[in-house]
Amino acid sequence: EQLVAGEAAKLLGQARRVVIFTGAGMSAESGVPTFRDALSGLWQQFDAQALATPEAFRADPALVWGWYEWRRSAVGRARPNQGHVAVAAIEARVPNCVLVTQNVDDLHERAGSTAPLHLHGSLFAPRCSACAHPAPAPDGMAEEPAGGRRITPPRCTRCSAPVRPGVVWFGEALPEAALSAAVEAAATCDLLLTVGTSGLVYPAAEIPQVAARCGAAVIQVNPEETPLDHVADVNLRGPAARVLPALVEAVWGGADRG
Ligand code: NAD
Ligand code: APR
Ligand code: ZN
Repeated sequence: EQLVAGEAAKLLGQARRVVIFTGAGMSAESGVPTFRDALSGLWQQFDAQALATPEAFRADPALVWGWYEWRRSAVGRARPNQGHVAVAAIEARVPNCVLVTQNVDDLHERAGSTAPLHLHGSLFAPRCSACAHPAPAPDGMAEEPAGGRRITPPRCTRCSAPVRPGVVWFGEALPEAALSAAVEAAATCDLLLTVGTSGLVYPAAEIPQVAARCGAAVIQVNPEETPLDHVADVNLRGPAARVLPALVEAVWGGADRG
């Protein structure tokens, strides 16, 4: 693995235009429940595919809003891990670096990344379910009871329809601006680093394949095998919070040494 890290370090050290593409595994070591294992307590009788949909919200807004508020409070209690910090260190050192994430948490931002492209939206950007007017995320989330609870969503201040989570649900299209910026970055980069994604959910999963098709080198960081194994030039088989700091160290020496 040391040799492999050496090859990855060489690619990252000589790259001018880098895309970093992250998924739920990026936040696993921060203890953020992944999308599937956030189905505990009140929501365990539901299937994610059923709950994360516009239909479920229309049928029972308080159940779906309560689930996302519970997930948002879990993120609020979590902290960015050394993988998030290493991503911000890479962004600061590479001449041109674009961060694209499928995650709806704010851990990249809290680790110092300035403008991640959120392909699946964010828990911190609720909006009106009718007129899309942005709504403030209720601050000071009370310590949610372990199993979470139903919470009646706030009303839009402009048209008084219920406010919805600002995430992309099953069946919904991805935000056009973020997706096209991500595809453009992948098509023009010379290295794409994919971290902590199963590469199963489209169209996000297209991003690493666009980079490879356009001649970029691809490095994958994931403890498990994924469909992206055959797209990657280098597979670093380990957890992000250990592999990414080692990669930054190998290229730029101790992250703190300027
Ligand atoms: P979907 O199959 O409904 O497709 C979502 C969009 O991707 C649609 O516009 C569809 O036309 C397009 N698409 C589907 N397959 C494609 C492909 N092979 N190539 C290019 N485009 C393709 O997607 P879904 O699995 O039902 O979920 C919709 C989105 O919501 C997904 O991106 C998923 O990751 C996301 N999601 C987010 C959360 C969350 O909480 N953030 C939860 C579940 C799903
Ligand atoms: N470091 C790196 N990768 C990890 C770690 C870790 N510490 N722990 C787990 N992983 C990997 C797993 O091996 C898996 O391949 O992270 C991946 C998580 O896969 P998913 O749970 O499918 O998450 P993701 O790929 O982001 O899913 C895509 O689908 O669930 C919806 O909208 C949601 O954005 C999500 C999208
Ligand atoms: Zn409205």
